[in-house]
Amino acid sequence: MNDAVKPAAGADGLVLVDTHAHLVDEAYNRDRKEVIERARAGGVVQIVNVGFDLDSSRNSVALAREYDFLYAAVGVHPHDAARVPAGYLDELGKLARDQKVVAIGETGLDYYRNLSPRPEQRRVFREQLALARELELPVIIHDRDAHGEVLEIFRQDGLGPAGGVLHCFSGSWEMARECLRMGFYISLAGVVTYPKSTRLQSIAVNLPLERLLVETDCPYLSPEPRRGKRNEPVYVRYVLERIAQLRKMAAAELALLTAQNARRLFRLPELT
Ligand code: NI
Repeated sequence: MNDAVKPAAGADGLVLVDTHAHLVDEAYNRDRKEVIERARAGGVVQIVNVGFDLDSSRNSVALAREYDFLYAAVGVHPHDAARVPAGYLDELGKLARDQKVVAIGETGLDYYRNLSPRPEQRRVFREQLALARELELPVIIHDRDAHGEVLEIFRQDGLGPAGGVLHCFSGSWEMARECLRMGFYISLAGVVTYPKSTRLQSIAVNLPLERLLVETDCPYLSPEPRRGKRNEPVYVRYVLERIAQLRKMAAAELALLTAQNARRLFRLPELT
């Protein structure tokens, strides 16, 4: 390995990929640069920075162009489905042609908070799935309390050839199995570190290693021991370490496998 291209690793050698961050969130307005530098110094070698409406998608692309190890996903979150302007899909399509854009998302259904009417959520979701298929990009799916309908939409529309990931997975094992059968990756966030998340922990143990991703979903969902505080990409190591502990495997090995999975799904460059 050439030292010049050797990926930075954390002090303990862990090499991590945060597959879902929202670094354009206003929570980082005062110290975004420091947060990004802490991630790099802590062994996070690639970050997928995810948009949730047109503005955040645009800003995610701009930020990804500033840092070589940042990538962007562009999409409209179900919360914002009712507020999208006409022509939003063309705009997403234009943004998605940027070299640093690796996925469409996050998109999906949120029947927990219902911030947009459900028919609007479904329409905007399916339109983005069609865009992803057309552009041959993977999709990043947000699903909260809408497991049945998300599955039904994929049964009808199919998952495009570039695949996708259920981010911050919160479904049952049956749901996980069906998603795996459809070809999805499953991404786990800080929730897996919470003592009460026993069902999710058993899913974390049983998921096939070649389909598992880790993420922060920062600034939300800080893992233990940072729970309740602002989250940031460097804490993806707590998610990774907890899953490694649950699976009784070395963190370094799990880090390597999940990083490979992220690179395969999002077609990120190899670092070595
Ligand atoms: Ni998110």
